[in-house]
Amino acid sequence: MVRTSLEDVNAPTLDPAAADALRADLATWTVDSVEAVVGDRAMRALGREQVLPARLAARASSTPEATLTRLFLLGDTVPTRDLDAALPTATAEGAARAGLIDVDGDEARARVDLRPYATVGEGGESQWWVASDQGEAVTGRRLRDDHVLGIGGASLTLAGMTMRAPVGRVLDLGTGCGVQAMHASLHSRSVVATDISRRALAFTAFNQALNGIEGWDLREGSMLEPVAGEEFDLVVSNPPFVITPEGAPSFEYRASGVPGDGIVSSLVSTVGTVLAPGGVAQMLGNWEIHGESWSESLEAWLEASPVPLDAWVIERDQLDAAEYAETWLRDAGVTPERGRAEFESAYRAYLSDFDARGVRAVGFGMVLLRRPLSGMPTLRRLEQHEGPLQEPFGGYLVAAMAAHDRVASLTDDALLATAWTAAADVTREQYGPVLQADPSYILLRQGAGLGRSISMDTALAGFVGACDGELTAGQIAHALAALLDVDSARMIAGLVPAVRELVADGFLA
Ligand SMILES: C[S@@+](CC[C@H](N)C(=O)[O-])C[C@H]1O[C@@H](n2cnc3c(N)ncnc32)[C@H](O)[C@@H]1O
Repeated sequence: MVRTSLEDVNAPTLDPAAADALRADLATWTVDSVEAVVGDRAMRALGREQVLPARLAARASSTPEATLTRLFLLGDTVPTRDLDAALPTATAEGAARAGLIDVDGDEARARVDLRPYATVGEGGESQWWVASDQGEAVTGRRLRDDHVLGIGGASLTLAGMTMRAPVGRVLDLGTGCGVQAMHASLHSRSVVATDISRRALAFTAFNQALNGIEGWDLREGSMLEPVAGEEFDLVVSNPPFVITPEGAPSFEYRASGVPGDGIVSSLVSTVGTVLAPGGVAQMLGNWEIHGESWSESLEAWLEASPVPLDAWVIERDQLDAAEYAETWLRDAGVTPERGRAEFESAYRAYLSDFDARGVRAVGFGMVLLRRPLSGMPTLRRLEQHEGPLQEPFGGYLVAAMAAHDRVASLTDDALLATAWTAAADVTREQYGPVLQADPSYILLRQGAGLGRSISMDTALAGFVGACDGELTAGQIAHALAALLDVDSARMIAGLVPAVRELVADGFLA
C-alpha cells in the first residue's frame, strides 16, 4: 500500500537480490561482534552518546566487522576497498545503489545508521539489522524535522513490556524503523505497520527486505485512520507523545502536532475500536496533571472509550512542568550552552503553554488496555511505580493478567475451596519494639514482578504463612478463627477480598 522510492523520500531501498547479497555479507556482523570490536569502555561511552572511544577502538582494527561498525554505527569515513572487502557480495557500489552510502573518490561515508540488533525470546535469540537516520552524536548536527528514529530507550521499554503470547493480527502504530513490528513478527500471524511519515515507512520497508521478513502490511496515515473498521489481537504503539508547544523544537518522530497530551488521549479513548474481543493494546505515553490527582485525565480518557475496556496504567515517572521542558529541550539539542536566546525562547513557550492549561506536572508511563472477551471489564487499575521492573516485564504482565482473570472468574466459594500457595519470591518482614511480643507491622514483600509490598495484620499474615498448597483457604480461615477466638463468618468475610488481591498481585498462586 506504500509506494516510496529513494528519490522521493531520501531513504534506502533494496530489491530482493540486493537484500540477499547484503544479508549474506552482514552475517558475522552481530551485536557481539560490535562489542568485540569496540570493547566495554567504548560500549558504555556509546550509552552516553559519546562515539569517540568506539571510533578510536574500531580504527585500530581492519576486520570486516570493524569496517562496518566504523561506517554504519560510528559515522566514520572508510576506504571503499575496505568496504568491498567487508561486503564481498553486495560490494560498495551495491551499498551506494541501495542509498546506504555516499562515495567520494576512494572513500565511503554512510547516509544512514545501520546496526545489528538482537533479542532473546521463548524461541531463542533473534538477530536483525536495523537502518534508521543517523543520530546527532554521530553527525554533530541537529536532527532533521522528519528524522527517522532508531532503536531508543522507549522502543526497548515498549518491546520489553509487550505481552508475547502467540497472536493473530498485530498493529504497530507509528512504526518508525519497524522495531516493534520485528518483535511482533516472532509471535503473530500478520503485522500491519503504520506511520504518518513516508520516510519512516521507507526505512521499515528497507529493514523488512534486509532481514527477509515476510507478510508485513505497511500503511501510510495518521493514528487509526489507516486501519479504521479492522480488528487486531495486539496493538503496540510508542506514539509521538512528547508535548510540544508552538515555539519549541518539533520533530515528527516525537511530536504529533496535536496540542498538549491530545495524541495519547485520543489513542487511549479510541484504540478499543480496533481491538478484537480479547485483544490487547500496549502503549507508552505522557499525560498532563492538572489537579491533585495524577490519574484524573486517564480516568476521563478511559471513560470516553466507546468500547468498554479493561485498563492497567502504570505511571513510571513524573516531572514538573519546568523539568519536562528542560528534558525535552535538551533531547532536541536546545541547551543554554549552544544558544541561550533560542533555549530561553523555547523554554518560555513551554511554560506559558503549560500555565495556560494549568498543567502542574507531566506523567510518563505505560498503558495496557484490553477489550474483554465477555464485553464486561473487570480490571481498572491506575498506579504509580518508580522502582525497577522485572525483566522481561511483558512476561510478568502475561502472568498478572492471567492471575487477575482467574480471580475475577472465581466465586467466593470457589476461592475458599482452592488450596493456594504463597509465591516463592515473597518474603515477610516484621517490625516492632524489641520487648513487644507481637510485631507492630508485618510486611509481605515480592522479589519479582513490581516488587510490591503489602502491610497486613497478624491474622492475614498467618493465613498467607499457612498457604502451602495443601489446605484450602476455607480450611485455613476456620483454623485461624478458632486459634484467634473470632467468629468464622466474620473472619471469612474479611479474608475473601484480601485473598483476591493477594492472588491478583502474585503473592498467592
Ligand atoms: C517515537 S517514534 C516510535 C518508533 C518505533 N515504533 C519505536 O518504538 O521506536 C513515533 C513514530 O510515530 C510516527 N507518527 C508521528 N505522528 C503520527 C501520527 N499522527 N500517526 C501515526 N504515526 C505517527 C512518527 O513518524 C514515528 O515514526
